[in-house]
Amino acid sequence: MELGGDIVASARFARAKQVPHHSKSGNIALHSMETAGYALLITEWLEEHGLSVSRVDVVRASLLHDIGMTEPSVFNSPSRKKAFSHPRVGACIAEKEFGANETQVEAIRHHMFPVFSMPPRSAEAWAVSLADKCCSINEARLGTGRLVAAMGRRILRWYHRTTRSHHC
Ligand SMILES: [Fe+2]
Ligand SMILES: [Fe+2]
Repeated sequence: MELGGDIVASARFARAKQVPHHSKSGNIALHSMETAGYALLITEWLEEHGLSVSRVDVVRASLLHDIGMTEPSVFNSPSRKKAFSHPRVGACIAEKEFGANETQVEAIRHHMFPVFSMPPRSAEAWAVSLADKCCSINEARLGTGRLVAAMGRRILRWYHRTTRSHHC
């Protein structure tokens, strides 16, 4: 609430409560809060393993990653088009209505990776994208700790690969 309370209290987020989501969370608002919870657990795991990750960017991008679905033009479109357009529309809403910074905008734009999206380009964006997947995998009843560690290891591998390539 400290990092994203203004988002949760907004009229836009209230609208997200009316938009259904296929996961067990049931609507976009609850799914986004669940995503933020997983993303914070992944962030804690990464911090314990020596990575510096912006918690404010992770939480705000998580809360807003599916906010594009609240636009009727997106919500009422066919599912394939919706999957393609909601990250772009959501990034615009995040920037205009919630002052999202570049990291948050990029995380929202790329959260659907590997579907219709290039890979995320920051640890924060990876945390949001993988936390989003956790919500679906969670329904397969895997343990949260194992799930978070698996996602964290994936981000660490990406981080070490990209930092190594920067030094070459
Ligand atoms: Fe999404
Ligand atoms: Fe999502």
